[in-house]
Amino acid sequence: MKALCYHSKKDVRVETVPDPQIQDPKDVVVRVTSTAICGSDLHLYGGFVLGLKRGDVLGHEFMGEVVETGSAVTRLKTGDRVVVPFTIACGECSQCRRGYFSVCETTNPKRQLGDLAFGHSTAGLFGYTHLTGGYPGGQAEYVRVPHADVGAIKIENGLTDEQVLFLSDIFPTGWQAVVQCDVQPTDTVAIWGAGPVGQFCVRSAILLGAAQVICIDRVLDRLSMARAGGAVTIDFETESVLDRLNELTSGRGPDKCIDAVGLEAHATASLDSVYDRVKQAAMLETDRPHVLREMMYVCRPGGVLSVPGVYTGLLDKVPMGAVMNKGLTIRTGQTHVNRWADDLLRRVQEGQIDPSFVITHTVPLEEAPEMYKTFRDKEDGCVKVVLKP
Ligand SMILES: NC(=O)c1ccc[n+]([C@@H]2O[C@H](COP(=O)([O-])OP(=O)(O)OC[C@H]3O[C@@H](n4cnc5c(N)ncnc54)[C@H](O)[C@@H]3O)[C@@H](O)[C@H]2O)c1
Ligand SMILES: [Zn+2]
Ligand SMILES: [Zn+2]
Repeated sequence: MKALCYHSKKDVRVETVPDPQIQDPKDVVVRVTSTAICGSDLHLYGGFVLGLKRGDVLGHEFMGEVVETGSAVTRLKTGDRVVVPFTIACGECSQCRRGYFSVCETTNPKRQLGDLAFGHSTAGLFGYTHLTGGYPGGQAEYVRVPHADVGAIKIENGLTDEQVLFLSDIFPTGWQAVVQCDVQPTDTVAIWGAGPVGQFCVRSAILLGAAQVICIDRVLDRLSMARAGGAVTIDFETESVLDRLNELTSGRGPDKCIDAVGLEAHATASLDSVYDRVKQAAMLETDRPHVLREMMYVCRPGGVLSVPGVYTGLLDKVPMGAVMNKGLTIRTGQTHVNRWADDLLRRVQEGQIDPSFVITHTVPLEEAPEMYKTFRDKEDGCVKVVLKP
């Protein structure tokens, strides 16, 4: 089959690789009809995440048709249409039973790597690093889906791929980021990043009843998409983020702050972001936490910081004094996709939201390497790319 393979930093290629096979009775094989490139894939592409090997098949947002089922699969059959969550969950361990699917205790076969890096291993993820199991991903014609009865979301109505594909990751990710904020009707929710995840944070915050939603970025097309979703926007290149946030909240600061940027925060005029660039280049710091610092500083005392943005390692100069003295709560995590999937599918069915709004590019899988670049550089108005194998 054809698949998008990682080779090295900034080098991904569409190649012919062996078709996936059923390896466990709980597996199914899915023929992929639509798959997408995620901001998390850009962290792999940029060489910021350890534990990738040459030839690894990338991709963790995908859907398609079940073409083969293992002998223990009962809920799915050949021909079923499914969206597959990026987190692989067993449904049986004590974390899965608590709804913490992204920290499933059993689906990472390389758990000693996770234990070493993070203290405890987390769930297996499709198309990501070997720290999370090294499972082949879905930017491919076919993919093996372990524990398919637990994870796969069955689509049994006339919704298009484009309307349901993002149940695999970015819609529940934006949703969880906002739910973790425990939004109150008087709240101002400020969201850093107007990429695909930030866009779903904006729409989720509106659906969950925030009084005011603010979105911060510098990419104009992305800011106008956030405004169309109901946000007030701040351009961090031409405006002072701190001044504008204080202005919009009568000097109190936003009640809830969401980091939908992660470890590759762009340098701004502020000294700390220049410092991060230098330290990261000298390999003295793995991640650039400029957005986290800004949130800690500007958040209203007693507020919540929600962090869906991905961090991988060790961060420097984090103002813990502000967090502690202002009594801030930090909530974070890879998304527990299955916790939200049924509710969000219902909301799509009822027409509360049409997640396809975020798609700007649809191309054949063969064009994936160019599209990684276009998406990374935010060229050509690119917000979200869908690939058709
Ligand atoms: N927690 C999860 O389960 C989960 C799931 C999906 C994605 N993610 C992560 O969410 C983050 C966003 O993903 P995405 O697909 O939207 O990526 P993206 O790269 O398309 O978007 C990031 C946006 O942040 C903006 N940005 C950069 N520096 C900024 C700054 N200083 N202030 C404000 N905005 C700034 C960029 O211009 C860009 O538009 C990534 O870190 C990704 O890995 C996490
Ligand atoms: Zn993702
Ligand atoms: Zn589990």
